[in-house]
Amino acid sequence: MKKIQISPSILSADFSQLGNEIKRLEDAGADMIHVDVMDGHFVPNLTIGPPVIKALKKQSSMIFDVHLMISPVHKYIEAYSDAGADIITIHPEATEDLNSSILKIKEFNKKVGVSLNPETKVDVIKEYLDKIDLILIMSVNPGFGGQKFMPEVLVKIKELKEIQKNKDLNFDIEIDGGINFDNSKEAIKAGANILVSGTTIFKSNNGDIKKNIELLKSK
Ligand code: DX5
Ligand code: ZN
Repeated sequence: MKKIQISPSILSADFSQLGNEIKRLEDAGADMIHVDVMDGHFVPNLTIGPPVIKALKKQSSMIFDVHLMISPVHKYIEAYSDAGADIITIHPEATEDLNSSILKIKEFNKKVGVSLNPETKVDVIKEYLDKIDLILIMSVNPGFGGQKFMPEVLVKIKELKEIQKNKDLNFDIEIDGGINFDNSKEAIKAGANILVSGTTIFKSNNGDIKKNIELLKSK
């Protein structure tokens, strides 16, 4: 049974204090930092890019779990690798050739993440599962924090757990979007071992991020 890890999304952090916010998360026991990169094209929102990630990485030894909601994504993989991403997660819909983008991420010795939007089936990535380190199951349509959790995606986590067992694979299953203190237990029970959360971590319990991280981890 994999250890449950928490990857707080800095999309809900104070963008005027990102360096300090990352330090707060580190002190509060976060396992990694979820960095939502949005290009205003793949998703209807625009956030940060390689220069900001590079600056933040200088301030922190945390694992940067970089979620690229950008397309086309292939030609930018090197830039995010150079900026300090440790896990590079891409969307299959954002590349013409998923296999070559997976190999590109491996070329830079980064962990390969592939993200499935709520309506995207597991079948889309089945043939690549032996090359993937992390599958990011979106439980909201990507683009914004603070959206409502979509429980129907849990069936995909159960399907992936089944495949993982039958094929003796070891990928992480990360869930992202609308995670709170109630549905986190369902997500863990379904088989997710990494929980992304922005709103719940930064806004619950008067912003007590240490308490919120601990509550999310508890089964
Ligand atoms: C949405 C992002 C998520 C989001 C999570 O496109 O990928 O990481 O920031 O934020 P909450 O936890 O507020 O749904
Ligand atoms: Zn994300």
